[in-house]
Amino acid sequence: MAFETSCDETSVAVIRDGVVVANGVASQVRLHAEYGGVVPELATREHLRNLPVVAAAALETAGLHPSDIDAVAATLGPGLPQALMIGLRSAQALAFSLGRPFLGVHHHEAHLYSPWIAGEPPRADFGAFEPNVSLIASGGHTMLVHVEGELRHRVLGATLDDAAGECFDKVAKLLGLSYPGGPLVDRLAAEGDPGAFEFPRPMLRDPGHDFSFSGLKTSVRYFLERNPGIASDPQRLRDLCASVQSSIVDVLVGKLVGAARALGVRCVTASGGVTCNRGFRSQLARTASLAGLAVRLAQPSLCTDNAAMVGVLAERRFLRGCSTPIDEEIRPGWALGEVQSHAAA
Ligand code: KG4
Ligand code: ZN
Repeated sequence: MAFETSCDETSVAVIRDGVVVANGVASQVRLHAEYGGVVPELATREHLRNLPVVAAAALETAGLHPSDIDAVAATLGPGLPQALMIGLRSAQALAFSLGRPFLGVHHHEAHLYSPWIAGEPPRADFGAFEPNVSLIASGGHTMLVHVEGELRHRVLGATLDDAAGECFDKVAKLLGLSYPGGPLVDRLAAEGDPGAFEFPRPMLRDPGHDFSFSGLKTSVRYFLERNPGIASDPQRLRDLCASVQSSIVDVLVGKLVGAARALGVRCVTASGGVTCNRGFRSQLARTASLAGLAVRLAQPSLCTDNAAMVGVLAERRFLRGCSTPIDEEIRPGWALGEVQSHAAA
């Protein structure tokens, strides 16, 4: 049984032999919408309120009693400290009371394996695993990781400022759209002209693997100052969404495919809320196919934060005999690069 409460999703999953038999998610997106971003105190209160309900529902869906659980996992970090605490302490209390092992998981490491969970019900497909370059793009993070083997990975680069999702959300706000703006931009962009306006593609030609999105947001702000009222015209708004989305997607796809080529890797994978974006998914499929690369995308329900990916990873570790001390603490600023040493410790 796995718990994920690192940000604004309260999620509990039950995994049996690699199959996701339950994956309940209580999203707080609507609650935070009126504040234009995640409010940590509200997130904590909601996790506390929702976690028992989501956990009971997950057990019911799985047809299990708590005593049937072999091990309990939770996200240790990175994330909002108080939010992480709710999931971690709940998981530890359950593991302790059942006398079962506890496993602490790195949130981004779980994201790396979510593209390998597929089907209905979702099932871990590690038999098909190939070394890959993985993009994690969400509201809080944007990074490229070389996944050399199962549980073996190396961070190649990350954003130097805003995350890709943050850029979608901030641009959407400038355009007068509500939070979170990413899905709205995606919807409007589908009926817009991506060539209507020219915005920068920051660091796309840079040979390194880092990203930067704050300049793109600033250039949209200057454009709107020079063209007041343009976003009130429905078709111009669609064109603006399509043009900005095209810049972000060009950078994400270009960097992901470029890194795979530079490393001689034959597969690219992606997860995180931004990778739900339809423009991203179709452009990645086209570009990767031209480059002779296989693509594995997390299915949309597993792109955003969920406990299924935490549970699938924890089960792999559990089967290798790993566990985490029952009194382990949250790790709000935990870097993915530190995971191996943590696992070995
Ligand atoms: O992974 P996620 O649910 O949560 C974290 O940030 O951890 O990602 C949420 C982010 C938000 O910034 C949201 O605007 C963006 O992902 N997002 C999208 C789309 N769906 C979610 N961005 C672009 N297109 C989408 N379809
Ligand atoms: Zn995430």
